[in-house]
Amino acid sequence: MALRLTTAGESHGPALLALVEGLPAGLVLDRSSIDEDLRRRQQGYGRSPRQQIEADEVEVLAGLRHGRTLGTPLALVVRNRDHENWRWGMSPWPPEGEPEGKGKAPVTLPRPGHADLAGVMKYGLSDARDALERASARHTAAIVAAGAVAKTLLREIGIAVEGRVLGDDLERRIDEARAERDTVGGVVEVIARGVPPGLGSYATKDERLDARLAATLMGTQAVKGVEIGDGFALAGKRGSEAHDEILRDEEGYRRETNRAGGIEAGVSNGEEIVVRAAMKPLPTLMRPLRSADLETGEATEALVERSDVAAVEALAVVAEACVAFELARAAREKFGGDSLADFVAAHRAYIERIPWSPR
Ligand SMILES: Cc1cc2nc3c(=O)[nH]c(=O)nc-3n(C[C@H](O)[C@H](O)[C@H](O)COP(=O)(O)O)c2cc1C
Repeated sequence: MALRLTTAGESHGPALLALVEGLPAGLVLDRSSIDEDLRRRQQGYGRSPRQQIEADEVEVLAGLRHGRTLGTPLALVVRNRDHENWRWGMSPWPPEGEPEGKGKAPVTLPRPGHADLAGVMKYGLSDARDALERASARHTAAIVAAGAVAKTLLREIGIAVEGRVLGDDLERRIDEARAERDTVGGVVEVIARGVPPGLGSYATKDERLDARLAATLMGTQAVKGVEIGDGFALAGKRGSEAHDEILRDEEGYRRETNRAGGIEAGVSNGEEIVVRAAMKPLPTLMRPLRSADLETGEATEALVERSDVAAVEALAVVAEACVAFELARAAREKFGGDSLADFVAAHRAYIERIPWSPR
């Protein structure tokens, strides 16, 4: 079965859920390493106080016994501790008693750059909270939990995935923006090492690894651009400067450059996979932009709700999870296996067949 991720959950609802299908049986999961990634996602310069309220922890409801996957759907839950303050406002059932806590009043001041206005029109809503709660990047906690599982699987075949922020002036930019009640974005990079040649395929668009990585990153809140390898810079280069010449030594084929970012024709080529994502400045501003009231149509200012000044460091962790999950999916397609042992053995047999060794 193909590796698949389904998520559910609202930002201030009871919990976020990740359902991971298609894992092999016998993979040992470590709760603390999943929690560590959840913690990394919550940290970073420029985050809001919400991150201190909630120390995310994973719970497992299905698919795991005594720390080993059963080869059945793995159900992960991350509770929203802040839900306590939204019990009435985000009650799944019609709330009982007098309105209390947060989320009582409908949101009628849509924020530019958020799902608020488009969501209200699309779904026929009167309260933009019904749109913004799911559109929120709180959802990425579920992605990170699933990504931690994917990284555990990838480690079994020698693949390591790591995300980081590019640029060393982020803290200064954040300080300046905060002082002016503004926000900033930035660029993150994810590198995957040990990826063998042959993940993905040129056969169809859907199978191309570059397309899949771009889709999973573009599918993440606030990501507005993705590039693989030298990406946009390649457009301005000559062919002679843009490609990675093929060399051969006793260990196999290798390249001296990696402008392609480890992917040619939608297939991994054995070099490091290098993917970058550009994040827009966060759209909830403490100095709100102009908007129009959903009830009256009158000119107004957008909703001001507690919000981060920047979340680029968090995006690096989320992007790492996204790339890891997609690579794990491609690895499951290539190596299959109902058990972890079968999966690892298929990988080993393949590596022995091809003239390539990880560097
Ligand atoms: C990790 C992470 C944290 C975010 N935190 C905030 C935030 O605190 N405030 C905000 O306005 N947007 C935040 N965003 C961005 C919005 O969720 C996003 O811009 C919005 O849902 C609209 O989607 P789009 O930017 O993909 O078009 C965050 C995004 C990520 C990836």
